[in-house]
Amino acid sequence: MYPKVHIHLKKYAHNIHHLLSMLHQKGISMMAVSKVFSADSRLIDVLNKANVDYIADSRIENLKKIETHKSKVLLRIPMMSEISDVIKYSDISLNSELEIIDALNLEAKKRNKIHSIILMFDIGDLREGIYYKDDYLKVVKEIITYGHINLLGIGTNLTCYGAVIPTNETYLKLENIIKNIEDNLNIKLEMISGGNSSSILMVSDQNIPKYINNLRVGEALVLGRETAYGNTIEGLYDDVFTLEAEIIEIKKKPSMPEGLLGMDAFGKKVKFVDQGIITRAILAIGKQDCDCSNLIPPHGVHILGCSSDHLIVELKDILLEIGDTITFKLNYGGILSVLTSPYVEKTYDQSL
Ligand SMILES: Cc1ncc(COP(=O)(O)O)c(C=O)c1O
Repeated sequence: MYPKVHIHLKKYAHNIHHLLSMLHQKGISMMAVSKVFSADSRLIDVLNKANVDYIADSRIENLKKIETHKSKVLLRIPMMSEISDVIKYSDISLNSELEIIDALNLEAKKRNKIHSIILMFDIGDLREGIYYKDDYLKVVKEIITYGHINLLGIGTNLTCYGAVIPTNETYLKLENIIKNIEDNLNIKLEMISGGNSSSILMVSDQNIPKYINNLRVGEALVLGRETAYGNTIEGLYDDVFTLEAEIIEIKKKPSMPEGLLGMDAFGKKVKFVDQGIITRAILAIGKQDCDCSNLIPPHGVHILGCSSDHLIVELKDILLEIGDTITFKLNYGGILSVLTSPYVEKTYDQSL
């Protein structure tokens, strides 16, 4: 049945191996992020067999189902309503609120556990974390009194909300925080988790600060690119996931709709360019599975648009018939959505 997402296990293993050796050479451990593929068990197996240091996910539901001997990390700062599951299903969580850390401490005590946390700092990207100019020493002082919380280290997240690119200048803010905490509170921070796939360019350019000893990596592993500038990383596959959909109509029709034009099925006014008569194909996949802007078509196929159940493409210099399929590469949003659509079948592929 189509649509089908092809999951290329060996390509994923290759990307992991390549990036891991790059990070490990620099003394940087890797948290491999599984949220983009909803912690699919076959891909978790690949991570289990690889030398990755931690498995990280933003959803506790995913961490709950992951079977691994590696430490599990909760990436999204926890909800008060999930505290007991955080203690139950994760070994480490990223945190920024003292109230939540206090609740984690109480829950960990109840379960006779020590829970590790990475205290997140916002150094300009404006998503989670204590703002770097705030009085964080007060917070850290409190955290280190908790009997069931281990302050494993501190972390930051960049190029997410604010699109701030990691640079030495930006990282100076993190370095100051480390110095301030270690000098004033006389403690050693074991882990400095410096960011995500957007920090990989600094690693390959050999200018990642020495004190950064951990990165949390998702996109680079599945799309083979760093995310500061979106450049491909040499030697990595960009098609760990591909999407195959079936053609249900092929007709020569005008490129311009005829009649009085209003809004499309999603309430948007669409612009059309008149290119005369073109070969149009319809594939049986739609926005309910994946927005067409997240699909990367092969040569000869040009995406015109999509509705909830139909993807409309133009075919140019390519001969296809009803019942044939077209295979697309996917961007990050595309992988996320097809892997969570109940209408897209998953198939595992061992080829390279
Ligand atoms: C806190 C945090 N760290 C790391 C990541 C991984 O980011 P990327 O996929 O860009 O490597 C994410 C997102 O998945 C995240 O929310």
